[in-house]
Amino acid sequence: MTVFFNGQFLEKQAVCISTDDRGFLFADGAYEVVRWSAGHFFRPSDHLRRLERSLAEIRISAPDMAILEDVSRQLVERNGLSAGDATVYVQVTRGAAPRKHAFPPPDTPATVYACARPFTALTEAMEKGVRVICVEDVRWSRCDIKSIALLPNVLANQQAGEAGAHEALFVRDGIVTEGSHTNFCAVFDGRLVTHPVSNRILAGITRAAVLEFCRGLGIPVEETPIARDALADASEMMLVGTTTDVVPVVQVDRRTVGNGTPGPVSRQLQAALRDAMCG
Ligand code: PDD
Repeated sequence: MTVFFNGQFLEKQAVCISTDDRGFLFADGAYEVVRWSAGHFFRPSDHLRRLERSLAEIRISAPDMAILEDVSRQLVERNGLSAGDATVYVQVTRGAAPRKHAFPPPDTPATVYACARPFTALTEAMEKGVRVICVEDVRWSRCDIKSIALLPNVLANQQAGEAGAHEALFVRDGIVTEGSHTNFCAVFDGRLVTHPVSNRILAGITRAAVLEFCRGLGIPVEETPIARDALADASEMMLVGTTTDVVPVVQVDRRTVGNGTPGPVSRQLQAALRDAMCG
């Protein structure tokens, strides 16, 4: 597999990352995951703009985003993934320096790593819907930054898997914020409701696309917090994200959503996203 590491395309086994790298020692970095489908990336500039923002918020000098877009394309091509679905992972850390909490000297170069992988759509989950569990949102208060520090997300998703569920929904102060690696939407009386963009969620690129599709389809949208206690009144729920597309939720903890099968809004949004990716 060919990957990109600090300005070079290399075989993955040839990459040598310093044990002093601040990504390794402190999870001091940010990342993106971009989807390749039908011969192009889905909203690449939105992902790169979000990476630039994440890096600015944590005060890491960003690499040239135009170069990163070209690198991502080359990774898809060099790994023979152009014809199918793939994801490109891009990570930037504050570079390598002896372990000390304060920033390293300003001339320390950032570490830039990117790789491409084949992606298989979650066909069965999309078709039948999935079960999720609710877990306490113990994350920091800057979930808007796509930080590589993902321990609470990892633990939550593992807990979901061990409970036979597909995803964990974070609940903070009685409000459902988002999933461990997805945004969350619910349908109440025909309106699609999702947590507003704030420091409590990642402003998902798929979430933004789904809201746009709703406007085009005449589905009213409300960006307002959803109380966990209100979930019982939702007719539909869904998880949305780059590696999830639109996956209907048919059970939350022990409670069935609607009639236990994916509803019409989920179906319309799945189709709209498929069309937008293929267009
Ligand atoms: N995760 N919320 C969180 C916490 C996420 O990690 C993600 C994406 C999303 C969805 O955002 P987007 O639609 O831009 O992918 C929401 C990626 C895919 C990951 O960590 O692998």
